Amino acid sequence: MENINNDLLYSSSNSLPTAGRVNFNTTVTKDFPTNEAYKMLRTNILFCGKAVKTIVITSSHENEGKSTISTEISKSLAEIEKKTLLIDADMRKSVILKKNLKAQNIMGLSELLSGQATIGQVLYNTQIPHFDVIFSGHFPPNPAELVSSATFKTVLDKFKEVYDYIIIDSPPLIPVIDASVISTQCDGAIIVIASGKTQYQEVSSTKEQLEKSGCRILGAILNETDPKYSRSKYYKKNSYYYDNNVKR
Ligand SMILES: Nc1ncnc2c1ncn2[C@@H]1O[C@H](COP(=O)(O)OP(=O)(O)OP(=O)(O)O)[C@@H](O)[C@H]1O
Ligand SMILES: [Mg+2]
Repeated sequence: MENINNDLLYSSSNSLPTAGRVNFNTTVTKDFPTNEAYKMLRTNILFCGKAVKTIVITSSHENEGKSTISTEISKSLAEIEKKTLLIDADMRKSVILKKNLKAQNIMGLSELLSGQATIGQVLYNTQIPHFDVIFSGHFPPNPAELVSSATFKTVLDKFKEVYDYIIIDSPPLIPVIDASVISTQCDGAIIVIASGKTQYQEVSSTKEQLEKSGCRILGAILNETDPKYSRSKYYKKNSYYYDNNVKR
């Protein structure tokens, strides 16, 4: 806690000290329908109102597209000049660092929450304007404990003063408790569903788990949709569908 407070002494009202600038991978090319789906998702987030700033992206199981969607929606919000922070809170199996940077030895959330690093040592600007990132850090023995700490709430509150949006990538909800704990500190959650893979019961239990945490479910994203089953000729494989009509 002491570290964090020291950091805050040096921060101006609309910026925080950073560890530097990283070049984020921008080689991902998105086809037209995917781009449109991200814009739609962005619009839906904007219409949730200003009270919704911290959003956790989760799903039932592994490999359903959480990290991909967290990264792309963060970039998409930054594109329209919304100051956005992406936090990789999957401290068990981070891919955001691996996918985007050559340097792997970077301190992140685990060091911040365990008091080994200050905000200024883990927060990075990227080459993309309005888009900052905190990587997951080194694998800690107690990820769930770290996200349940008071420090996590303190840093999120500080980030909320500075950023328009804080997008939090998390581990899958059924095998581990982390996302559920993270959601207790968030204004909303988005559930990613892998089309044709995630079972109804699994989505239902993910939704129940988030509701138990008292987190508002903003909607669900159907990922990896197959054009064969789509009503729209514009949907292709690998595009996303956003549904904000999930029953609450
Ligand atoms: N819509 C998509 N189109 C193409 N590839 C995708 C799509 N969504 C995800 N992928 C690919 O699927 C793999 C898993 O995606 P990702 O890492 O985003 O999933 P995840 O839910 O974060 O997984 P984990 O639970 O292991 O963290 C990656 O190789 C990613 O590039
Ligand atoms: Mg992931």
